[in-house]
Amino acid sequence: MNQPVMGGVATLNVPAYIKQQKLINWVAEIAALTKPDRIHWCDGSQEEYDRLCAEMVAAGTMKKLNQEKRPNSYLACSDPTDVARVEDRTYICSSTKEQAGPTNNWMDPAEMRATLNPLFDGCMVGRTMYVVPFSMGPLGSPIAHIGVELSDSPYVAVNMRIMTRMGKAVYDVLGTDGEFVPCVHTVGAPLTAGRKDVAWPCNPTKYIVHYPETREIWSFGSGYGGNALLGKKCFALRIASNMGHQDAQIDGKGWLAEHMLILGVESPQGKKHYIAAAFPSACGKTNFAMLIPPASFDGWKITTIGDDIAWIKPGADGRLYAINPEAGYFGVAPGTNEKTNFNCMASLRENTIFTNVALTDDGDVWWEGLSKQAPAHLIDWQGKDWTPASGTKAAHPNARFTVAATQNPVIDAAWDDPAGVPISAFIFGGRRSTTVPLVTEARNWTEGVYMAATMGSETTAAAAGQQGVVRRDPFAMLPFIGYNMSDYFQHWLNLGEKIGQANPAALPKVYCVNWFRTDEQGHFVWPGFGDNMRVLKWMLERIEGTAGGIENIFGTTPRFGDLKWDGIPFSPEEFETITSIDKDAWREELVLHEELFTKLAYHLPAELKAVKAELEKRLAK
Ligand code: OXD
Ligand code: MN
Repeated sequence: MNQPVMGGVATLNVPAYIKQQKLINWVAEIAALTKPDRIHWCDGSQEEYDRLCAEMVAAGTMKKLNQEKRPNSYLACSDPTDVARVEDRTYICSSTKEQAGPTNNWMDPAEMRATLNPLFDGCMVGRTMYVVPFSMGPLGSPIAHIGVELSDSPYVAVNMRIMTRMGKAVYDVLGTDGEFVPCVHTVGAPLTAGRKDVAWPCNPTKYIVHYPETREIWSFGSGYGGNALLGKKCFALRIASNMGHQDAQIDGKGWLAEHMLILGVESPQGKKHYIAAAFPSACGKTNFAMLIPPASFDGWKITTIGDDIAWIKPGADGRLYAINPEAGYFGVAPGTNEKTNFNCMASLRENTIFTNVALTDDGDVWWEGLSKQAPAHLIDWQGKDWTPASGTKAAHPNARFTVAATQNPVIDAAWDDPAGVPISAFIFGGRRSTTVPLVTEARNWTEGVYMAATMGSETTAAAAGQQGVVRRDPFAMLPFIGYNMSDYFQHWLNLGEKIGQANPAALPKVYCVNWFRTDEQGHFVWPGFGDNMRVLKWMLERIEGTAGGIENIFGTTPRFGDLKWDGIPFSPEEFETITSIDKDAWREELVLHEELFTKLAYHLPAELKAVKAELEKRLAK
C-alpha cells in the first residue's frame, strides 16, 4: 500500500492487513487536517481494550470499580455540560433544505464545510487519533454496513468495541474496494501550547453533522453517547434511514432503519414471532426487550435481538427481515433494578462501562431507583460527596451503562444471524398520561403508518432541554430521521404497498401502545414491565388469528376478557381507565395531528390525510 506523505504530523504506520487505499488516503487526509500527535489503528482485541481503559484510569477519565463486586468494570464521569444528545446542534446537510425537511436543522453543505473546517483544523493536536473500524450488523450480513470512525477519544474507542462489531475482521469484509461510512469525531480540545488535559475534554461549541449525499458524519465538541459513538444514532439511524430511502430508487423497495427494539415472543405451544417496537428515548425500550413474563405465564418466553435500533430489509420470501445493527446496549441506568429489569441487572454484573452514575464507598455503582434506600454516602456523578440529605440526584438522569449484548441472559439464539429475523408485528408506543389507550391494532398498514406518524410523547432526559412536555415524535424517530419526514412516511407506505401486493400475509401487523396512562392522582394505572406480557400475548394470538377484540374509532382493541389476568388483581374499571376513548380529548388530539400535518405539508402523503378524515368522521358519529 502507498503510505501518503503526512507533512509534519503523526506517521500513519498503516497495518499490513489493511488493503484499501481509499481508506488509507482518507485517514491521511483527516490526520493532516486534525494534526494528532499519534495515530492508533484499533484492532478490537481484549488487550487493546484493557490497555486503553488502564490509560484512561491513569488520566482520571475513568475509575476502575471494585474487582470483586463488578469485575472488569469502569465508571466514567463526564463534564457537567456534556451529558446528553444535543438535538439543537444536530444537522442534516443535504443539498436542499426540503430534503432535510422541517424537522431537522439544515445548513447548506458547502457552508457547513466552511464552518467546520477551521474547527477541525488542528483539533487533535497533542492527542491520539484512533482509527475505529466497525460493522453495523453481523460481519458480512447482506443487511449490515461498515463504518470507520476517526476519534481523538479513547472513551469512544472502548465504547465502540462494546457497541459494534469493532476490529481487524472488519477490514477483511471491506477488502480493497468495499464501501464504508466515514465518521470523523473530535472532542474539540486540542492540547496546544502546553495546555493540560482534563478528565473529560469537550468544547462548549458542538456540531453533530450528517452529509446524506456523501454519507459522511462529522462530530465536534462532545464526547457523550449518541453525539460521539457515531455508529449509533448518526450512522444507524440518520445516515442509514437515508440509505434505505435512496436504495428504493434502485430496487423499488429500499429498506428501513428504525428506532426499534426487536424481541422474540414464544408461546408454550412453541409458536414464535419476532416483534419490532419503537418507543422514544428513555421510555423503557431496554426493559421491554428483556421482559420476564409474570409467573402465571408459565412456558412463555421473551428473547432479545436488540434494544434500540433495527435495520429491516425485504427478504426473498417477501417478508421483512430485521437485524440489530448494534452489538451492545447503551442503556439508561436510573430506574433500572432487579424488579424493573432483572435480566439487564444480570447483564451488568461485569465487563461494563458506567457513565455518570454514582460511586459507592466500596467501589461499586449506584443510581436512583437501584435500591429503595440510597446508601448513606456516595460520590455523585460530579465527583462530590453525596448523602440522601443532599437534595440532588446522585446519578445524572441520563446516566448510562455500556455492555455487550452477549451478556444478556435472554439473548435470542438468532441475534447474530446474518439473515436477520422475520418481523410479524410493529409496535409504536409513546409516553402519554392521557388520551391514547393501552393497545390498539391498526385495521391496515396505512392506518398503522398514520398511528406511528402522529405519535406523541412526553419528553425525557435522553436529550438536552425541557422534560415532560408532549411533543409529536413520529415513529419515535423525530431526532433521527435523516431526511424529509413526509418522504419518510411515503417510504413506509410504498414499502407496505409493495409487500402487501406480492403477499398480503407477509405484511406485519401494526400496534399502538401506551403504558403510561395515569389516574386522577397522577399515578400510573398499568403495572407495565413484566405485565406488558399480557399485551404481547394478545398480539401473538391476533397474529395467529385466535384472539378477539372490538373495533373502535381508532382501531381494534382487546376487551377486558381478551387479556389474561391471572396473577394480578386488575379490575375492569381500571382497564376502562386506560383503554377508554375520550372523544373530546381525541378532538383536541386531532387538532395536534393537523398542526403536524401543516408543518409537514410538503410531500405529505394523501393517504395519511384520508385516514385522518375517516377518523374525524367516526369521531363525529
Ligand atoms: C438512546 C437515545 O441513547 O434514544 O438510545 O437517546
Ligand atoms: Mn434510543
